[in-house]
Amino acid sequence: MDTKKLAERLAEAGQSHILQFWDQLSPEEQAEMSLDLKNMNFIEINNFFKNAMKISGQSSQEKVDSRMEPVPREVLGSVTRDSGCLKEWEKEGLRCISENKVAVLLLAGGQGTRLGVPYPKGMYDVGLPSHKTLFQIQAERIRRLEQLAEKLHAKKCCIPWYIMTSGRTMDMTKEFFLQHKYFGLKKENVLFFQQGMLPAMDFNGKIILEGKGKLAMAPDGNGGLYRALGTQKIIDDMKKRGISCIHVYCVDNILVKVADPAFIGFCSLKGADCGAKVVEKTNPTEAVGVVCKVDGRYQVVEYSEITLATAEKRSLDGRLMFNAGNIANHFFTLEFLSEIVRTYEPQLQHHVAQKKIPYVNTQGQLIKPDKPNGIKMEKFVFDIFQFAKKFVVYEVLREDEFSPLKNADSQDGKDNPTTARHSLMSLHHRWILNAGGNFVDENGTHIPAIPSLKDGTDLPIKCEICPLVSYGGEGLEHLVSGRAFQPNLMIDESGVHELVKNGL
Ligand code: UTP
Repeated sequence: MDTKKLAERLAEAGQSHILQFWDQLSPEEQAEMSLDLKNMNFIEINNFFKNAMKISGQSSQEKVDSRMEPVPREVLGSVTRDSGCLKEWEKEGLRCISENKVAVLLLAGGQGTRLGVPYPKGMYDVGLPSHKTLFQIQAERIRRLEQLAEKLHAKKCCIPWYIMTSGRTMDMTKEFFLQHKYFGLKKENVLFFQQGMLPAMDFNGKIILEGKGKLAMAPDGNGGLYRALGTQKIIDDMKKRGISCIHVYCVDNILVKVADPAFIGFCSLKGADCGAKVVEKTNPTEAVGVVCKVDGRYQVVEYSEITLATAEKRSLDGRLMFNAGNIANHFFTLEFLSEIVRTYEPQLQHHVAQKKIPYVNTQGQLIKPDKPNGIKMEKFVFDIFQFAKKFVVYEVLREDEFSPLKNADSQDGKDNPTTARHSLMSLHHRWILNAGGNFVDENGTHIPAIPSLKDGTDLPIKCEICPLVSYGGEGLEHLVSGRAFQPNLMIDESGVHELVKNGL
């Protein structure tokens, strides 16, 4: 590559400092750096920075309270309030699946900095009895759902799985799937693609170097999806396969109902082009974004963007008025996604996340700052709600469907491997009870349906059910009804296994 040309491009964009160590680099390092910089559009990056800073300045001053309206009841479907419709929704969803019209899309390009492991989050084992990883659990749910749809409609079907990774997670993710033979899925139906990366910038808009010849790069947020769908030709692939709707979700929710037929059926029957699954926010100070209307358009409003008075407002039924807690779990029609990619993606603005970004100082030493020294720029997956023609919201129970893995384990911690493991085992425990099973202690005495926790870290009943046996609690009666089990139970394709204490 022509170094003079590169230097000119950088000078034009006010980013010449990037080459300050150029003469100290070996020819190989120079070649590598040139390659990294070759396809970067520095003027565009500067514009991203300017716009993102402008918007973040505005949103930190202006509260949106007066412009907000709650989700109207007529666009809301709820698994509790509309439980009578669930069967119909599920039937419609399974019909769509059986006709090969449904795809799932996993957002797995994040860096997982809070969890702090050096590999992609989907490869994490939260310590279940089976030691399955998040990827395996999701893959098995897809397989089970295909089987359910096939059985109901007596025809073979497939749910293609699109997996978005980033420069930081792609190779390891692909290798992991290969090693595990795609967890029983067909290789051609598991499709990996890569989202974009952007350099981290200091507060003055200068690109940060994390090495003498290396920029500090980060994925461009889960909303980087929309650019990637176009550049990586994913929309084309979906069209070729005859897909009509897509379930998009995050890698870290251990309870995620991948391609949830009831959610898909609800959105389809409502004629929606865009849908958000939510859980009820019950505590006004919970730091969760809420789905609502602002100036007549749907969006997610973060807790920091509203006043406490608004967060505390209640409806006549006593629920919080703004209670549609966003869990990054969405339905889109392919038509809507195509339109986003074609028309609206360039209009989406980056959000600013202030971060502590390791950098090399002018002496070339690596410094790890102890307070934020710059920003990463990210788009969010929900940024496109505003463009929906028909938007719907689907409310589910948190304890059944949402338990994200964000942090490493710590005493009294939240959203960590222990809470994820407990959420899944507690759900499976309830499935056993609902299917007519019971648990007894070593003396044969019935353990109450809601056993008290002995200490904060251990569940008295450890129960895991393989997704290949049950997707959402179905099909368990013949295995468990009328039976009493020891509190360490595993059900998989080979049968029901009561394990000796601590054997799990
Ligand atoms: P988070 O915002 O929780 O980020 O991602 P994270 O990377 O998992 O964790 P931290 O913040 O670094 O600790 C929510 C979902 O969005 C995906 C993640 O993989 C996760 O499924 N994501 C995030 C992307 O796909 N790309 C991104 O650029 C960022």
